[in-house]
Amino acid sequence: MKSIQTVLITGANAGLGRETARQLAQQDSIEKIYLGCRNAEKAKAAKAALETESKRAIFEIVLMDVSDPNSVRGAVSGLDAPIDAVILNAGGTGGRQPNALTANGVTNIFASNVLGHAVLVDELLNRQLVTSTVLYAGSEAARGIPKMGMARPELRTNSVEEFTSIANGSRFGPDGDPLEAYASVKLTATLWMAAMARKHPHIRFITMSPGGTTGTNGMDDLPFMKRIFFKHVGGVLMPLFGMMHGVETGAKRYVDGLLNPKFKSGRFYASAGSSPTGPVSDQSGFFSVFDDVTYQDSASLAVQQFA
Ligand SMILES: NC(=O)c1ccc[n+]([C@@H]2O[C@H](COP(=O)([O-])OP(=O)(O)OC[C@H]3O[C@@H](n4cnc5c(N)ncnc54)[C@H](OP(=O)(O)O)[C@@H]3O)[C@@H](O)[C@H]2O)c1
Repeated sequence: MKSIQTVLITGANAGLGRETARQLAQQDSIEKIYLGCRNAEKAKAAKAALETESKRAIFEIVLMDVSDPNSVRGAVSGLDAPIDAVILNAGGTGGRQPNALTANGVTNIFASNVLGHAVLVDELLNRQLVTSTVLYAGSEAARGIPKMGMARPELRTNSVEEFTSIANGSRFGPDGDPLEAYASVKLTATLWMAAMARKHPHIRFITMSPGGTTGTNGMDDLPFMKRIFFKHVGGVLMPLFGMMHGVETGAKRYVDGLLNPKFKSGRFYASAGSSPTGPVSDQSGFFSVFDDVTYQDSASLAVQQFA
């Protein structure tokens, strides 16, 4: 595995992305960290804080809104040197209007978690600007977390149409439950990553869930009752029951996935047990579609048609 010295992290100004930047800066081998952010003021504040905390001037801001493919293309055209690794971390539950459609015809939740990242990876590959590893922020939601009331996403067929209905939101409707959409969106992205691993064997494509993580802004845009449950009640009670961990532990999963060669390309790693915490394992034992090339290719084709 090629050594990783430069890393681009999307959604690097807050939560897991920012903590990952902090942890990577502690590694002497890391020489540069690109902070992929959509808001210039938040990006500057995060860069200044990271420089102070790490005592290293290795951070560079790359402005990009990953829900907008044109913004992503513009950001990549401004890069002047190859990057060893990219952490596709931005996203979450899709903002205040997760089911509303973007100009590309996909929902906001799909655009910010999947489409912009697919465009980013394609642009980097086309310009030979990524040399080693692409790591995607997966979620245990993609295989279901019954303990937390999150059902496994239902796939009726292995067709491109199936994944298209997830991308354009037609399967959920304008008032669909954002957490149900979230699980299907993360599943689609995980399958897309596995297809990319087969297509580009010289690059490692690893999907790694950070696990249930408190201390981030990830639940802020959920509907009121769900926000109260997951963020305020859950954020306090779930760690006590081993169902959530701190942001340091979540971000460390990304760092391990990036730097430890035991994590293999095309695989999805997340919590080994039924709670979204603890050690990680290959998730194909939980849900066989992760290993199914027809599902992988259909998800990938559905993503590509909107790029
Ligand atoms: N927390 C968990 O329990 C958990 C579990 C599994 C997976 N994950 C995944 O981990 C990732 C990070 O989550 P988090 O909990 O750290 O959330 P967070 O605290 O809300 O951080 C999300 C980051 O992504 C950025 N972002 C959102 N949409 C963006 C866009 N369109 N363009 C550019 N940046 C954008 C945010 O920027 P702004 O500050 O500008 O909004 C912020 O920097 C997400 O992909 C999430 O799905 C989280």
